[in-house]
Amino acid sequence: MSFDYDSLARDLKALLGEERDLLANSANTCALIFERLPGLNWAGFYYLRGEELVLGPFQGKAACVRIGMGRGVCGQAAQQRKTLLVEDVHKFPGHIACDAASRSEVVVPLLPAGRLVGVLDLDSPETGRFTSEDREGVERLAAIYLAATDFSSLIVD
Ligand code: SME
Repeated sequence: MSFDYDSLARDLKALLGEERDLLANSANTCALIFERLPGLNWAGFYYLRGEELVLGPFQGKAACVRIGMGRGVCGQAAQQRKTLLVEDVHKFPGHIACDAASRSEVVVPLLPAGRLVGVLDLDSPETGRFTSEDREGVERLAAIYLAATDFSSLIVD
């Protein structure tokens, strides 16, 4: 049976409510996703600071802090500004192994008003955990988080 993203999307909207704070919304978004999506070992955010992605709020094991643009799955998704779904991280050249248990991964770039501010990264210890349905579902969750949150502190002209 497929996962009920409708219900998770509704609950994320309700959880964020009228709150606009970046840290609070980021922390609660990855906590809810980690609690509700089965088969994850990591869920969290990296934010663009200059030319690097820097670790933000997450759930899971302690992770690498800085990822260069174009490096690993996160850096590639950020550079290409598109969601990357990796069935087997061992077959992804340049994959960065933060948790050795991770086998598959989905990374969604965060583009409020078309500006790249970071990525949402989900990892699983199961190979092929994420399907195209998950890609759409996680993109939908990211869109709810983006619409709810004030990113002005991250956007520097
Ligand atoms: N595997 C990611 C690095 C981040 S951790 O998985 C939390 C990558 O290759 O970009």
